[in-house]
Amino acid sequence: MARSILTDAFFDSFDASVGATDEAMTLPPACYTNPEFFEFEKDSLFFREWLCVGRESWAKNPGDYFTSMHAGEPILVVRNRDGDLKAFSSVCRHRAALVAEGCGTLKSFLCPYHHWTYSLDGELIGAPEMQRAVGFDRQRYCLPRFRLEVWQGFVFVNFDPDALPLAPRLRNVAEPLANFRIAALDGPRPGPPTAYPWNWKVMFENSNDGYHANRLHKGPLHDFVPSALASFPEIPPGEAGYYRLNGTTHPDVGFNATQRALLPMFPGLSEADRNRVVFANVPPTLALFTLSDMVGYLIMHARSANCQALTLGVLVAPGAEKNPLFQELLDANNRAIAAIVAQDWHVDGLVQTGLESQFAPRGRYSWQEGAQRALNLWLVERYRAEWARRSAALPNAAE
Ligand code: FES
Ligand SMILES: [Fe+2]
Repeated sequence: MARSILTDAFFDSFDASVGATDEAMTLPPACYTNPEFFEFEKDSLFFREWLCVGRESWAKNPGDYFTSMHAGEPILVVRNRDGDLKAFSSVCRHRAALVAEGCGTLKSFLCPYHHWTYSLDGELIGAPEMQRAVGFDRQRYCLPRFRLEVWQGFVFVNFDPDALPLAPRLRNVAEPLANFRIAALDGPRPGPPTAYPWNWKVMFENSNDGYHANRLHKGPLHDFVPSALASFPEIPPGEAGYYRLNGTTHPDVGFNATQRALLPMFPGLSEADRNRVVFANVPPTLALFTLSDMVGYLIMHARSANCQALTLGVLVAPGAEKNPLFQELLDANNRAIAAIVAQDWHVDGLVQTGLESQFAPRGRYSWQEGAQRALNLWLVERYRAEWARRSAALPNAAE
């Protein structure tokens, strides 16, 4: 049997990744490739942290629902008859088929397999031909319910009933976003997530990498957000996320051929807001960036050590979608953004292939990679907490 990579020495080696950016090294490559480590991440991150599943506006009215998936757990979010948003496991309590797929509006959830039926509050309200099942009590077969919190209009769920609330631990991250009033924004509903063959951290790091902007994306569609204008505010301990500011060479930049915002601008932006992009991150699932006329967001769905899926969406100013030219203007942005992300996806694939090599490095960082070190801090604190819990549960492990 292969020896476990999870040892004290392995976790001690993380020291090298959490020093100052000028001194730190990247995480061990196994963190991006090893299936055992991905299982460890489920316990240390995915089953403890707040996970973004979508926008609150995706379920406006009673009966509206949508589904999501993180780390192998199917999730159902629904607006109940009282108008409250609820989150459940969508795994049927009979023989585990999923009771809901995609999104829509329903009065109840009918499992397609044997027609057990669940209310909008997750109660089992119908189970045909179960009267002979000895001691069968419908009330004991409700869908498992998850904690739910809405931050900036994004819906988060948490599988851990004891998790600390999210919003009080995102005050620092919320500060540079305040004038965008993201909670009130809406945008075209993204389609189902697309799967990619790399570890979730490869994309999480790429989405907030100031270093590559002037290199990989060199050219007129990106040069106005130069790497040299990146800055990395220090995040206080205990914060659940982090952010990077990146100055721009002119105000109100837009990722399109005009290099300027094309859609109606958000009202109430300051001069500072209009001359920078905020890249805000709530690991392990949400990254977003601000422009003067749109907020882009990435919801990352980890699937395995070397596979993740992505939901990519934009939010625009209230009323912007009423403009008869809205779709054309958005398409102009989408065309340029598609060209940029194609470059990102290409290197993400190269990075994953390289990380799986026996020659994969623990590399060093440029000062323009402060956000990678911020992610390392967030990760290593949680990896170590889980390792300590496991070590405490195995008192003889050291013998
Ligand atoms: S698996 Fe759902 S009713 Fe049988
Ligand atoms: Fe990029």
